[in-house]
Amino acid sequence: MFYINNENVDQMYEELKNKVIKRKAEFYNLIEFLERETTWLTSPASTKYHLAIKKGLLIHSVGVAYNMIEIKKTMLPHIDDETCIIIGLFHDIGKLGSANKPLYIQNESDYYYNPDSVAMGLAVRSLFLASKYINLSDEEAQAIAYHDGQYITENKIIAHKESPLTLLAHYADYWTAHIYENEKMREKLISDNLFGDTEKAAKE
Ligand SMILES: [Fe+2]
Ligand SMILES: [Fe+2]
Repeated sequence: MFYINNENVDQMYEELKNKVIKRKAEFYNLIEFLERETTWLTSPASTKYHLAIKKGLLIHSVGVAYNMIEIKKTMLPHIDDETCIIIGLFHDIGKLGSANKPLYIQNESDYYYNPDSVAMGLAVRSLFLASKYINLSDEEAQAIAYHDGQYITENKIIAHKESPLTLLAHYADYWTAHIYENEKMREKLISDNLFGDTEKAAKE
């Protein structure tokens, strides 16, 4: 189990990047774009609710990537780790807006939506940005575009037609956000020593 937080996120992110070999060139083209032209390394995961803190989006995305790998080891071992890293890291990059035009702007105390950003569904924008740089498979495109599952009304179009990768991404995303990133849940899990070395490493 991996609990990603402010202290360990940079190291865990670098470790994920180093694991991408087969699509290394295209992966790094996207990483370079995100790191240089967007707020990827500092953006919150939301304006008010989920990880609305500096680096919140990176903490969430790195967490989803690791948890996708953990879950698929048991349930879908044939899925490539690289696919989990690409989907985990990039499923929410639509939250960054576009080049030099962040979607979330920082106020004195919180964040607000950039009124100049062209309106687009978050997952649609994630797919738009990722597919400019990475040659995605059909399953990977579906997983990014529909990672919110049936919580989003528009996603009904693929109800009961989800690929295993989409269900994996959806489950890992919601598990990470609602269990590991939820303060009360996490405190209980930490007291039960669920995170073991990851939590110890984060405190050192
Ligand atoms: Fe999302
Ligand atoms: Fe997410």
